[in-house]
Amino acid sequence: MSRVFNFSAGPAALPLAVLEQLRDEMLDWHAQGMSVMEMSHRGKAYVGIAQQAEADLRELLSVPANYKVLFLQGGATAQFAAIPLNLSAPGAVVDYVNTGTWSTNAIKEARVLNKPIKVVASSEDRQFTYIPASIAFNKDAVYAHITSNNTIRGTQWSRFPDTGGVPLVADMSSDFMSRPFDAGPFGLVYAGAQKNIGPAGVTLVIVRDDMLGRVPEGLPVMLKYTTFSSKNSLYNTPPCFAIYAVQLVLKWIEETVGGLDKMAALNRAKADRLYGCIDASGGFYRGTAEPASRSQMNVTFRLAGEELEKRFLEEAARNGLSSLKGHRSVGGCRASIYNAVGLEAVEALAEFMNAFAKRNG
Ligand SMILES: Cc1ncc(COP(=O)(O)O)c(C=O)c1O
Repeated sequence: MSRVFNFSAGPAALPLAVLEQLRDEMLDWHAQGMSVMEMSHRGKAYVGIAQQAEADLRELLSVPANYKVLFLQGGATAQFAAIPLNLSAPGAVVDYVNTGTWSTNAIKEARVLNKPIKVVASSEDRQFTYIPASIAFNKDAVYAHITSNNTIRGTQWSRFPDTGGVPLVADMSSDFMSRPFDAGPFGLVYAGAQKNIGPAGVTLVIVRDDMLGRVPEGLPVMLKYTTFSSKNSLYNTPPCFAIYAVQLVLKWIEETVGGLDKMAALNRAKADRLYGCIDASGGFYRGTAEPASRSQMNVTFRLAGEELEKRFLEEAARNGLSSLKGHRSVGGCRASIYNAVGLEAVEALAEFMNAFAKRNG
């Protein structure tokens, strides 16, 4: 077996111990004589798995009792439409902050639904390289949407904005469960699992009870939050195996890493190591995000030219450092260092970057 250090932006690296457990249990889960993939989602065994996944998530994130946790399908992209459909009555103003491609896509989808959107801040003027400060949210907005981590541009909200009481709605797809956060200001958070907590196929939504009170009748059943909140996310067949994998990753965060505070400290240390390497390179590597807005999940950087970047990526791959190419829309390089990317992977990358700079600088 030969595994690489995987810096993919998502789907992304999973903890080796989790993959090994999934492998070992593949043909016979807990003496059931079948895989989790093969069992009824209504049976006792799977219902137990689903309950454990929710309990582990609630415990790790300290989710308050007045929030529901939903396990959905359709990716974060389905949420771009579900949020305005469920949370805003006709004519109600909704605030959006535009910090990159995914925010832009969320805005587009709300516009398709004819929602009166106010883009209250945008970092488009400087190619989405920063997180806007001092935002004037509308007092009458029914929610304010942000993208907590911008996977493509490598920026992240280090502190969430004060909306003056307007419920925050956050796309946390690329930093969910990478650090603790206070749920209080949030009406809803959502995230695809495939970066920090599992394989693709399941989307997490944490939604406050009063927001569920807004959900109108007459929505398509699969886009309606109350369909799932009233049925413990078991309205129709859920992505059972993906949810099981999520449960194992959550257990790994709790038992092996030691909880979310430790996870956050480790993620900070990994990011510091790479940004330190970039900043000490004398300009050989150039971080693309403004320092105060740097992401601890996606470290984006450029080299002096595309030819040199190509060589960097090829040599990195030959050295077992995989998937460092920047998003196709922006080019350059990106090291995604989600929860399951260990310090040893980051160390190997930093050493390679130093050696490459020395040889080519
Ligand atoms: C911040 C963010 N939002 C949304 C998406 C889209 O997610 P999905 O493919 O799960 O719909 C991505 C995908 O990378 C993302 O990084």
